[in-house]
Amino acid sequence: MKVTVVGAGAVGASCAEYIAIKNFASEVVVLDIKEGYAEGKAMDLMQTASLNGFDTKITGTTNDYSKTAGSDIAVITSGIPRKPGMTREELIGINAGIVKTVAMSLIKHSPKVILIVVSNPMDTMTYLAHKVTGLPKNKIIGMGGALDSARFKYRLAEALDAPISDIDGMVIGGHSDTGMVPLASHATRNSIKVTEFIGKDRLEQVVEDTKVGGATLTKLLGTSAWYAPGAAVSSLVQAIACDQKKMFPCSTLLNGEYGLKDICIGVPVILGKNGIEKIVDIPLSDEEKTKMQESAKGVANTNALLEV
Ligand code: 2OP
Repeated sequence: MKVTVVGAGAVGASCAEYIAIKNFASEVVVLDIKEGYAEGKAMDLMQTASLNGFDTKITGTTNDYSKTAGSDIAVITSGIPRKPGMTREELIGINAGIVKTVAMSLIKHSPKVILIVVSNPMDTMTYLAHKVTGLPKNKIIGMGGALDSARFKYRLAEALDAPISDIDGMVIGGHSDTGMVPLASHATRNSIKVTEFIGKDRLEQVVEDTKVGGATLTKLLGTSAWYAPGAAVSSLVQAIACDQKKMFPCSTLLNGEYGLKDICIGVPVILGKNGIEKIVDIPLSDEEKTKMQESAKGVANTNALLEV
């Protein structure tokens, strides 16, 4: 199993590290445009192999896509991260051109690759990847909901004073500060609805804290987060590489599902060896349906800024 990670920055390097530590991939190639940067990150990570107990071979390359040839899965993290106070959508001017070039370069050397898009604004970058590559829709996956759901679970565990392993919850919709739809009505602690443990106001605070989870960290860190994004990507890569048939919220091209068409937005999907094996239709409350439609309008507005 060969995995390429484009972008050796904090998110990309975290992706590569978590993928390697899970030890399911034979090879991870990290690519960056900055001379020597990917090679250095790869070498540093390889020097953890004996300590972290993995046999995955990590190599780095400076913008040589021939080294990515034959990749089964490729992760696009390249582009600029947001600064405090910025929205993800404000990155489109620079990141769209980068993602277009990267996606085209990847499929040239790996025509059967499954793409995972991380670069922001992620839902629009995922849509762009469809437009420029023409890959089958099951082979382009946007990573946002897995990260947002992890943050939702973190906030729920905090509110319930519970171990995170007791908590389950999912965030669908756009990966944006205003467009996320944390499914509070479905969230549970060990199969019991969380509404049995916390009141409406506290649950609403959990939802709001989840939606700005990325912005909260950007304010603290001065740049976008990287550990949780990297870990979320590695979970999607593992589900595909190991054909796990696990369900994650991922940004995918909809053609009528959830009443939406010609848009990439976070919905529950089953991930396996074919990438998106199935889009899962789940029951939503009227409020959640309305929020999903509003979220889609926001993503569509950002898509309209694309010059494909
Ligand atoms: C985040 O929410 C980078 O969009 C990513 O942290």
